[in-house]
Amino acid sequence: MELSTQKLIHTFGALADLGQEIVGNGDFTEMVRTSMHLLLGTLALRRGAVIECSGPSGPLKCVAVWGLGDQMFSSLEIEEAEKQAFLSGEVAESLVKNSCSTNGFLNRHRDKLAAEGIELVFPMIVRGEVTGLVLLGGKASGEEFSNDDFETIRAMVRHIGVGIHTHRLIEQVAQRAEENRRVYDELRAIYRDTVRAFAAAIDIKDKYTQGHSERVGKYSEIIAREMGWSEEEVEGIQIAGYLHDIGKLIVDRDIINAPYNIDAKLSSELNRHPAAGYEILAPIRHPYADIPLTAKYHHERLDGRGYPDGLTDEQIPLGAKIVSLADSFDAMTTDRPYRRRRSFEDVVRDLRENSGKQFDGKVVAAFARAMLKEVKGETKERRITKVLGKSYLEGEHVPTLLSDLIADLEKPNHKDTKSQTVKMN
Ligand SMILES: [Fe+2]
Repeated sequence: MELSTQKLIHTFGALADLGQEIVGNGDFTEMVRTSMHLLLGTLALRRGAVIECSGPSGPLKCVAVWGLGDQMFSSLEIEEAEKQAFLSGEVAESLVKNSCSTNGFLNRHRDKLAAEGIELVFPMIVRGEVTGLVLLGGKASGEEFSNDDFETIRAMVRHIGVGIHTHRLIEQVAQRAEENRRVYDELRAIYRDTVRAFAAAIDIKDKYTQGHSERVGKYSEIIAREMGWSEEEVEGIQIAGYLHDIGKLIVDRDIINAPYNIDAKLSSELNRHPAAGYEILAPIRHPYADIPLTAKYHHERLDGRGYPDGLTDEQIPLGAKIVSLADSFDAMTTDRPYRRRRSFEDVVRDLRENSGKQFDGKVVAAFARAMLKEVKGETKERRITKVLGKSYLEGEHVPTLLSDLIADLEKPNHKDTKSQTVKMN
């Protein structure tokens, strides 16, 4: 094979390798370094460097270097006019030793470059922009550069320039995505804070149930997480819990704060709050879809005896079933002026009896599992225990109560099955 054919094949091979390096998704600096080594290896050059323009003008940043000291690069600068000269083709690549060159960059840095053994300076031009420069030393053989060598170098320098340009674009996209994510997170935080402020406003109106909405939000979140919901859905149900009673804002304060037994008229007035909540929440663009429906249906029951629409089991959204349980659990486990909170045994009895009638057994079982994990110390956080007070879930009988409840509810023939629900209707 002729020497020139061999050289051509070698050059094509190097270009193919370079192309692969550039489209690879490895480390950027490593890509530039490998590309430069390919270039140096192809022509057997002693030294070289790839330097990047970091702004319209000013200092150049060394990305890869071989056979040269680093200190030289700190003093290299390029000016806008010098870039324009490269772009307009007024000057192309330049031989350092050509002292007649009109290249301003070269004229300013000639002595420094020559002292380091740099013989060639090539601009990397991509899409009308000088991305950086490639500096190359002489051949190890001491031979002069041929026209073929220049062609090879130009092709490889273009490849490296495209690699750097693409990397910058990817960085810009990533930066914008990061900015968007930050703005989105801020908006979510504002939304969450607003929701909590509303929850506090609801609870202030009801003097007997301070902090109720906050607790319902917390329990709902715990249940949904135990049921394997995604983090986004969990956050949604927490917000639905905070807002479930927002409709109470339109109910007269005296009715909300009336003693335990209220007459039918007042009761029907109070029972307007789920539908009113829906009316308030529906026009708002929530990041989570089911919040208005959860507020509307949090007083529905599986047996169809709830309100406002008397829905049955499968007609009730799962989110509403979760908030319904969280709501009732908080009502049973907090003191009211007219009664003390119920004992845990009593609450568990109520949950067992009403699973399949008022509550969804799967939701009750999930809540019981979450409580059992805390009681047994299987979770680091004690979120339910903290809300209920330390002593409430203490006692040797508590794990047994919860385990038995879970076992009952998870039996395949538990009353909370479809056939039983149909029978009850
Ligand atoms: Fe309610």
